[in-house]
Amino acid sequence: AAARDLAGRHVVVSAGGTREPIDPVRFIGNRSSGMQGYALARTALARGARVTLVAANVTLPDPAGAEIVRTGSTREMRDAVLKAAADADAVVMAAAVADFRPADYEDVKIKKTPGAEPAPIHLVENPDILAELVRESRDVAGRVIVGFAAETHDVLENGRRKLARKGCDLLVVNQVGEHLAFGRPDNAAVILSADGAAVDVPRGSKEALSDVVWDLVAARMT
Ligand code: C5P
Repeated sequence: AAARDLAGRHVVVSAGGTREPIDPVRFIGNRSSGMQGYALARTALARGARVTLVAANVTLPDPAGAEIVRTGSTREMRDAVLKAAADADAVVMAAAVADFRPADYEDVKIKKTPGAEPAPIHLVENPDILAELVRESRDVAGRVIVGFAAETHDVLENGRRKLARKGCDLLVVNQVGEHLAFGRPDNAAVILSADGAAVDVPRGSKEALSDVVWDLVAARMT
């Protein structure tokens, strides 16, 4: 990686996992720690970029020099990402975003009624931030948009299909499972690009993976 090759660039990174409230004390969430997104932010800062880090429910130390926007739910993250992306040269969606949210929010804690059936939680679809970003960036020359995909099986096949569906420039596909990726400092991935290339990143630190991502992003920025 060339030192300071992102100087003068504004990059937006999303990190962590969104939470969808059910009632004042409960939510639907996921296991994302935010480590990969924070590593992307730190490495971009080291390479000279201005970094906006849109974090959802992350408890890691703030990367010095990044502008941090804290969000909770997917809809909050959507607004923050689209706003920050307005003048961005690259956007990397490393956050684990909830695909669905409860249709209704109960503003008092849900109680159990002894002997009664539990009330079902109906779900509705969340906005797809990445897909929306791609649509909004269609006429923006040189903006590079990167998605992440966590797959448990048929990693390459599912990755290719997802890349085509989302329309982003690069898709970082990692294999997840009980002992892989989540909450761990290391990661391994295949980075697929819209032009058909695939770059294998062997197991290593999340910083090392981040640097490969920025190499590929920098090569595509105009
Ligand atoms: O479809 P899937 O959730 O696997 O896609 C993962 C990629 O899409 C990630 O980059 C994630 O941040 C992004 N995403 C999004 N909005 C959603 C769901 C996923 O931006 N509602």
